[in-house]
Amino acid sequence: MKHILKGEQFNKVEVEKIFALASKMEKEVESGKVNERLKGKIVASVFFEPSTRTRLSFETSALRLGARVISAENAAENSSSHKGETIEDTFKMLASYADIIVMRHKEIFMAERGAKVSRSPVVNAGDGYNEHPSQGLLDLYTIKKELKKINNLKIAFVGDLLYSRTLHSLVPLLNLYNKNKFYFVSPKELKIGDDFRKRFKELKVDFEEVNDLNKVIKEVDVVYMTRVQKERFKKESDYNKVKDSFVFSKEHLKLMKKDAIIMHPLPRINEIPAEIDLDPRAIYFKQAKNGLYIRMAILCHVLDK
Ligand code: CP
Repeated sequence: MKHILKGEQFNKVEVEKIFALASKMEKEVESGKVNERLKGKIVASVFFEPSTRTRLSFETSALRLGARVISAENAAENSSSHKGETIEDTFKMLASYADIIVMRHKEIFMAERGAKVSRSPVVNAGDGYNEHPSQGLLDLYTIKKELKKINNLKIAFVGDLLYSRTLHSLVPLLNLYNKNKFYFVSPKELKIGDDFRKRFKELKVDFEEVNDLNKVIKEVDVVYMTRVQKERFKKESDYNKVKDSFVFSKEHLKLMKKDAIIMHPLPRINEIPAEIDLDPRAIYFKQAKNGLYIRMAILCHVLDK
């Protein structure tokens, strides 16, 4: 059975297959063609953490493919996990109702635990700070569309890299391709965690950790901004200390390469002021829209449709 759990699970053949499908979906949606590849199927969309893009684009994807959706948008309070039901029992029940289970959870590895007991494919829609593989795929798809290549690139990830599940999923995907070099730009409190630093070294990821975006801005092809994730901090005072560490400015725009791009998984708070949106290199809303096509492709992929 095909589960979607982490960025590292994919090989190039699978990535290209999903991208070809996403591109087909994009053309069909844009031309208004009705697609019923998942007619008769039911997708469970179960979110234990807030979401705008991931939940609503997965649900839109299901509907655009002719599937129907059962949804728990505030599962932490409105599902029986609130009464103490285990995640395994929750997945067993969901699998008896739905053909695909899309789940976001605030705890790490919940999708992996679910995949061990589920009779339906599980799609990890974000598990705590750990992974967000559909975001990693849509990010890679966006880079390919915008820069016309996904190799020989320099990519700066900026901000909260300790809790960035999007970084954790995207780096192994980009690392499938040759000569990609990463700069991890963060304050010392928000450097990538030891677990992912070790894993990236095992995967032979070419990365450098730096504390100032100005050191690399002139040479990178992608600036990938991230939000400082308030909800992951135990103490508000610790969050306040680092919340404004990296704010993208008009000065940064002047230093960037003419053909570089600015990405962000969104939501943003203050790390990219709205005035930056006017620059054609700011592509984060196009990036979010690509999520629809990638998620349509993912839903088809896990059911071999
Ligand atoms: N990028 C992302 O996961 O956004 P949401 O939290 O709105 O789903």
